[in-house]
Amino acid sequence: MPKSIVIHSYKGGTGKTSISANIAALYAKNGKNVCLLDYDFRAPSMQVLFKPDIHNTLNDFLEEKCEINDAIKDVSSKYQLKGHLYVGFADASTESMKDMMTKDRNWEMKALHRTLSGKNKLYNELGIDFLIFDTSPGVSYSSINALVSSDFIIVVSKMDDFDMAGTKEMIHGIYSSLGRKTGLLLNRIPTEQFPLGAGQKELENAMGKEFNLPFLGIIPCYCDVQVNGGKYLFVVEQPKHPFCQALSEVINQMEKHLEKT
Ligand SMILES: Nc1ncnc2c1ncn2[C@@H]1O[C@H](COP(=O)(O)OP(=O)(O)OP(=O)(O)O)[C@@H](O)[C@H]1O
Ligand SMILES: [Mg+2]
Repeated sequence: MPKSIVIHSYKGGTGKTSISANIAALYAKNGKNVCLLDYDFRAPSMQVLFKPDIHNTLNDFLEEKCEINDAIKDVSSKYQLKGHLYVGFADASTESMKDMMTKDRNWEMKALHRTLSGKNKLYNELGIDFLIFDTSPGVSYSSINALVSSDFIIVVSKMDDFDMAGTKEMIHGIYSSLGRKTGLLLNRIPTEQFPLGAGQKELENAMGKEFNLPFLGIIPCYCDVQVNGGKYLFVVEQPKHPFCQALSEVINQMEKHLEKT
């Protein structure tokens, strides 16, 4: 059964784009057919990482100017991936970003229907195994549309008080009311805060109690990921990097929860 995964967070800069792109590439490396959609219409980023020659964007798809198949690009040969990796890009022009912020509820309802029908088309016509959405932080309509279209939500948070308080609010206010399976991933944890040995299990238990969500993992703040995360896909260029190993483990944890009915 194909699955749809959304990477979301309360605050910006938690690592959603880096994590979604690398998880998508990791799945494709392992022979899965993956489609990664940039649903961060307020501040698109995927074009920086994949440097595509874009014709149609996801904005065109949502505006009914093209079909979903015309708004995605197969980048798998560029990265020599075993499976297909299709990426759908958001329009990163200032004009378009401003335009997307003025959309009303009716337009967004239509966009939700487009998203759901696009998802079925990707599953049925392209044999997509995993559909992965990168999103804007917080409660933008496009992020809510992605969350509604998902089977699993990866909530990414840093370990500071602002982030944690906001994440807790989103769990109660959004994720639980949507009834989607949700897991918590802590990312960009400074070395001084990073638990070692048994401390990791303690932190996992404490987080489980605090957030009442499955814990997917904790990833340190790596200086080289900070510097090069927007330049290339770590899972392609540096597959042995601990960042990639941590993401593999996140996938394992998530799949355990996806399997549960
Ligand atoms: N584990 C990590 N260690 C160090 N740097 C990281 C890590 N994860 C992501 N980063 C870096 O943090 C910055 C923000 O990451 P990213 O753009 O993926 O976050 P985001 O949640 O998508 O942000 P936004 O909400 O603005 O879209 C980037 O410079 C990225 O390379
Ligand atoms: Mg982002």
